[in-house]
Amino acid sequence: MRHFLNTMDWSRESLQELLDEAAELRQHRLSDRLRGKTIALLFLNPSMRTRTSFEIGAFELGAHAIVLEPGKAAWGIEFETGVIMDGEAEEHIAEVAGVLSRYCDAIGLRAFPLFKDWSSDRQDGVIKSLARHASVPVINMETIVHPCQELALMRTIQDHLGQPDGKKFVLTWTWHPRPLNTAVANSALLIASKFGMDVTLLVPHDDYLLDEQFMDAAYANADASGGSMEISTNIESAYQGADFVYAKSWGALPLYGRPEEEARLREPYRHFIVDGQKMAMTNSALFSHCLPLRRNIKATDEVMDASYCVALDEAENRLHVQKALMCQLIGHR
Ligand code: CP
Repeated sequence: MRHFLNTMDWSRESLQELLDEAAELRQHRLSDRLRGKTIALLFLNPSMRTRTSFEIGAFELGAHAIVLEPGKAAWGIEFETGVIMDGEAEEHIAEVAGVLSRYCDAIGLRAFPLFKDWSSDRQDGVIKSLARHASVPVINMETIVHPCQELALMRTIQDHLGQPDGKKFVLTWTWHPRPLNTAVANSALLIASKFGMDVTLLVPHDDYLLDEQFMDAAYANADASGGSMEISTNIESAYQGADFVYAKSWGALPLYGRPEEEARLREPYRHFIVDGQKMAMTNSALFSHCLPLRRNIKATDEVMDASYCVALDEAENRLHVQKALMCQLIGHR
């Protein structure tokens, strides 16, 4: 049995198999490859794309997906071990995972970090706890990484650019009214570096560097894949020669859990928005974003409506890569 908690546990070759399978599944949407299978999707946070693409993906393979929202239409869950459960949570992940493992063939979980203490959130303890107690494969639907988004991003890069090796991939931080999760940024670094791209992480200030576990993994990936990894605070040099620009906003980790102070740090950097002028400095780059995206905050209307914007392709690819993932994880049980 194999989980899909992050791509760090998966080789480039095994990820490429999923990407190839996704391209085939895109050609033949309906099949009964997972007829009779079921997947439980636990959402502790809101979603549009992830929920829709998993539900439709399961349907198109002949499987059934059931969405549960613990704390709303399902009992709240305690994830810590050994606690006296005198708070809001009505049941423990040990029982939730045990019961769902008896009913279902796989379990997906979305559990964003709590934005209080990064030293705790960086452990990704919630999904690890589910994986420890489950006896069926667990799929990460976004925690402190978003590996399904990584697959969709790399499928999209390969669809448009072919072999990704040696192509310049710019991950640019953008301003946003709130400090957001670093998950997609962590994931973008991991997948681009794993697939041999020349990665530039563009940030306005050192405090926006990502957690060292992901920075270190990206450097190690680049060494192994023949790619490269560099950090820049210079907008012009970062965009110059770019083949793919990926935008995301995230909160500064040194000010994690202190949103008012973080907002003051972030305020001078609204000009990191992706606009036509910046895209004109690139090597006719493609642009994408995981969505949801606030227009004219993270990227301008001009960029979002341009033919080089492939964000909708990436969103569509969520469906195909997740179908490949479900086939891989539960297709032959
Ligand atoms: N990109 C993504 O995961 O979208 P949702 O938050 O809408 O699921």
